[in-house]
Amino acid sequence: MDILKAEFVVSNSTVDKCPKPDRHEYAFIGRSNVGKSSLINMLTNNKKLAKTAAKPGKTQLINHFLINDFWYMVDLPGYGYARTSETNRRLFERMIRDYILKRENLVCLFVLIDSRHEPQQIDLEFMEWLGENGVPFVMVFTKADKLTTTQRITCIDEYHKVMLNTWESTPVAFMTSSEKRLGREELLDYIDELNKSVKL
Ligand code: GTP
Ligand code: MG
Repeated sequence: MDILKAEFVVSNSTVDKCPKPDRHEYAFIGRSNVGKSSLINMLTNNKKLAKTAAKPGKTQLINHFLINDFWYMVDLPGYGYARTSETNRRLFERMIRDYILKRENLVCLFVLIDSRHEPQQIDLEFMEWLGENGVPFVMVFTKADKLTTTQRITCIDEYHKVMLNTWESTPVAFMTSSEKRLGREELLDYIDELNKSVKL
């Protein structure tokens, strides 16, 4: 799929205020600083579309972007940011949880995972929760430019191995790098297929 147009629509702090749920929607979630906003910019060929930062905790709202005048891409705040207050963290987690459970046009959630680390409890638990709530999701490994080809394979293998302890099958997984523009075609083609096959 080609990205012909990508425009910022609105930022919201609650799901109820988000745009009318009448278009296919795909949201990016994951730990703070994992590279959600950078991935959105890489996919849309626009370095300034979503705000990125070297420090965690940059994205603090639910941000809607309209792509090709047809579907929504959503940038969410990260989870598990330790250096914010307990109150703030709870607020973010509530915002994310409500959005995920209530957003009826959400076709698929992209769960971003830093490919440089071994499987982390926080990501595994988050995916467990998605499974329990029947939320469709795929795994997107980020920052693959920091890994060798062998390490990339090991990373996905390790996740599959751990997940098969609790899951019957493992989710679809993509390896990406916003820095090197890796995985772009694959992700956009995946979205294109869903846009065509999922009826709202
Ligand atoms: P929050 O909004 O704070 O939750 O973070 P985020 O997940 O949106 O991360 P963001 O896109 O702001 O990127 C965080 C940091 O990771 C920035 O310093 C990026 O430059 C860096 N980063 C993102 N993607 C990549 C990548 O593919 N490779 C490398 N090497 N660095 C990356
Ligand atoms: Mg962000």
